[in-house]
Order: sequence, then structure tokens, then C-alpha cells
Amino acid sequence: MQELLSEIAKVAEASPDKGEVATYIPELAGVNPDQFGIAVAFEDGRLLTAGDAEVPFSIQSVSKVFALALALGRVGDQLWYRVGREPSGLSFDSILLLEREDGIPRNPFINAGALVTTDTYLAGSNPREALGELLGFIRAAADDDSIHINENVAQSELTTGHRNFSLAHYLASCGNLRSSVDKVLGTSCHQCGIEMSCRQLAMAGRFLIESANMPPLVAALRRRRINAMMMTCGHYDGSGDFAFRVGLPGKSGVGGGILVIAPGRASIAVWSPGLNRYGNSKLGTEAMEMFAKRTGWSVF
Ligand code: DON
Repeated sequence: MQELLSEIAKVAEASPDKGEVATYIPELAGVNPDQFGIAVAFEDGRLLTAGDAEVPFSIQSVSKVFALALALGRVGDQLWYRVGREPSGLSFDSILLLEREDGIPRNPFINAGALVTTDTYLAGSNPREALGELLGFIRAAADDDSIHINENVAQSELTTGHRNFSLAHYLASCGNLRSSVDKVLGTSCHQCGIEMSCRQLAMAGRFLIESANMPPLVAALRRRRINAMMMTCGHYDGSGDFAFRVGLPGKSGVGGGILVIAPGRASIAVWSPGLNRYGNSKLGTEAMEMFAKRTGWSVF
């Protein structure tokens, strides 16, 4: 397996087309695209890495997996009255369906749906407390207290996030936000500003592997359902393509990270900042395709 990871990192480093780094968040625009890391945390506790697996990156929408787990922990199945469970077939920041579907976002991984999950775990408490709880969950899952929020990234997004503000205002106009738009956005921008390395992210993802050795942070039924959402909605309008090419549940972020779960086997984190046309890591997706082909770990 170590040889495979090193080979995957070599192929990625040699790739002539690394995709485009996200520029709409100013703080991410300056990230060097020539970076690639991969880490595999096995269910038995082993960890293997290759490439830039120790370099911290902005996890962005990968955070929506942890936010979903926390929101479900708070309100259970009540969450599904406020957010759906179907792929949207549209880009992650689309507002199109919100009007047609009465302010109920299609799923918790598109931005509109993630604002509802953030609003849910924010509940009556203040953003600082809620974010402390989210970080606590992630740190416990990763067994790593050094995981933190990059304040510059959070501020950068707060000052430029007009699309997210408009989504939040639309949700509020439909009665689907409990806290104020400013509180929800302040929380969600900090949530997206969490930084992790591939090693830390692979470790944090272990709560989604089926194994007796994992931290029991969520019940089995919930773990299966989160994995199902990752498979069907984790890559937005590129979810079908990712399932076709990789065959494993995954969640991407516009910082170029992807968390992938091989049920019963391992949690995998891959990172390369250049994105494909869906806003998912280009080389990360290609690396996972090679990984799945060589390991035979597709769930299909
Ligand atoms: O709201 C945004 O646009 C970002 N904070 C998160 C978007 C994202 O990561 C989409 N994923 N590929």
C-alpha cells in the first residue's frame, strides 16, 4: 500500500494539468497548485501517507460532513424537515431550486443546505460556543488537539461571500433559519476556515468507518446515512461522476481536499488545490480513481 501511495503522489506531481485554484475566496487564491498529499487511516489504527500529507489546507466544504454529524446529534431526524436528501444536479452555491422548493435545500452538502445544518448546531448558543463544539468533535475524531480555524480565511470569506449571504437571506425569508443571517454566516465561514493536513483529515474521518476500533462518535445507522449522503451528494453536480470513477463515498472542498470513506477498511484524505469544472479537486479525484482501481475497494 505504501508503494501505491508513493506511486499515486508521483503521478500527480508529474501531471501537466493540475486544474484551477479557487480564486473567489481571496485568501485561497495564493495557494501553490503544485502540492499533492494523500493519507490513509486504516480501521486497525495504521496510518500511511505520501506527498505533502503534513501540509495544512483549508478544508472548506469537507467541514459539512462534521457539521452534519453534529446537527444530527442535536436534533436527530428532525433535521430532515428543514433539508432534503437528494442530489441537486447544480453547482454547490446555486440558488435556483431554493425558490421553487420553498426554501428547503436539496441536501446538507450544497451551500444552502449546509447553512441549515450550521444553523441547527448553532441552535440557541453563540457562534464561539458552537464552533468550540464542532472543533471538539473533530479533534476527538482525529485524536488531535492542534486542529484549528484559520481566522484570515474566515474573514476573507466573510467579506466576499455575497452568494452565501444571499442564500442565507433567502432561507430566512422562508422561515428556515433560527439564528440571524450574520450569526449563521459568521459561524459557517469559520467552519469552512478549519485547517487540516491530509493526515489529520484521514484520522478525523475514521468515525465514518465501520469498525470496532473507531471512536464511537455516531451510531451505526447515522454513520451509514452520512456515508450515503456523501456518495449521492458529496461532489455536487459531480457526484455521479465521482461514484462512477471511484465508487466510494466522498466529500470535497474548494480548498482541494477530499475525504473518502472505504467502509469497513479506511478513511482516506487526498489534497491538491487545483479544481475541476465542478469545483472538486482535479488531481484528488484522479488519484482516488487510481487508488480505487488498484485496491478494488469500490463498494460496487
Ligand atoms: O461557501 C463557499 O463557497 C466555501 N466556503 C465552500 C464551498 C466549497 O468548499 C465547495 N466545494 N467544493
